[in-house]
Amino acid sequence: MLTREENNNLTRVGRGTPAGEMLRRYWQPVAAAGELSADKPIKAVHLLGEKLVVYRDTKGDYGLVGERCPHRSASLAYGRVDAEGIRCPYHGWKFDAAGRCLQQPAEPPDGGFKDKIKHTAYPVQKLGGLLFGYLGPQPAPVLPRWDVLAWENGRRWIEVQEPLRCNWLQPMENSVDPSHLYWLHGETAHLLPNVAHYEEDHEFIPFDSGIYKRRITPGKNPGEPPAIDQHPLLFPNTLRHVFRAKDKMLRHNLQMRVPIDDAHTQVFVIFFEPNDKDRTPADADVPWSYFPIRDEQGRYRLEHVLVQDAMAWETQGAITDRSEERLGAGDEGIILFRKVLREQIEAVRQGRDPLGVFRHADNNRVMEFDVINERIGVFPRAQKVA
Ligand code: FES
Ligand SMILES: [Fe+2]
Repeated sequence: MLTREENNNLTRVGRGTPAGEMLRRYWQPVAAAGELSADKPIKAVHLLGEKLVVYRDTKGDYGLVGERCPHRSASLAYGRVDAEGIRCPYHGWKFDAAGRCLQQPAEPPDGGFKDKIKHTAYPVQKLGGLLFGYLGPQPAPVLPRWDVLAWENGRRWIEVQEPLRCNWLQPMENSVDPSHLYWLHGETAHLLPNVAHYEEDHEFIPFDSGIYKRRITPGKNPGEPPAIDQHPLLFPNTLRHVFRAKDKMLRHNLQMRVPIDDAHTQVFVIFFEPNDKDRTPADADVPWSYFPIRDEQGRYRLEHVLVQDAMAWETQGAITDRSEERLGAGDEGIILFRKVLREQIEAVRQGRDPLGVFRHADNNRVMEFDVINERIGVFPRAQKVA
């Protein structure tokens, strides 16, 4: 249980809020690179309570700037791009990716007015087919080359989910909540007949990028070995997961839960399937698709595991009231995660880097995570990128 004030401190994402300042120390995905094309080079992006647009100019470079034009607030989401930047649709003011105003067609050319304009602008990087933006103080940390983003020997693709109508912390608490598997996903995972007497064991192991969640489930029959699942929570807002799909291929994935504002979250799921025939450079655009949570009647598509989760998170409330919860022994991981969150928020308040922020890492080093499931063996590692 948390007080209302503690709940606010851990959940709110706006600039100047405790969690909002902490979240701004990390690169956050804003779009699949493939969402921007010559036909549709601009996407409105609402991130951490800020209204922005991400665009690709005609040279192929990216920018992430404020959505509202500093002239008289029209939306740059309906603007035009050229080789230098983005132009407002209303009176044609033009901006570059650093926020400089390059042109004001209705102003005298030598008046110097444009030099007084500084538009909101943030750096953008591309990795694993995603565009990342960084909204925190300079200098920006390195963008971590997590395995699913940087592996090259296989196939990568992205699902951009229908935005969740809830705060980002609800999906993240789920990442350290092993026991929900048996109920929420029990039918899909064929576990329900055993849930009345399941005796699983959990371990939560903090490490330099987050918390490993390990679930140890005893065998159903005498002599049967336990099943072990191990999925790291990559601090602060990503789950590193893996499963074996119906076609028997491994689906390594990252589930990145990006705060739109206090009550909405954009989930990007990035999949990587190691195989012998495909090669996907880490800097390549990759296929992407939109994943709806609801059907045309507005009902949850509960046949999908990720929608079962989304249903649980949204029905907890837009920002769940943690002053009313009753935590038990099965919520050990949630208690640990909140402790880590508080510590990292405090580190940022004191001017230190929080967990998982790296400044001197070798940019080419791929960060691989141990994800084990003994039902199907220790996962073969994809080949490292030089
Ligand atoms: S509102 Fe953008 S140029 Fe006038
Ligand atoms: Fe789940």
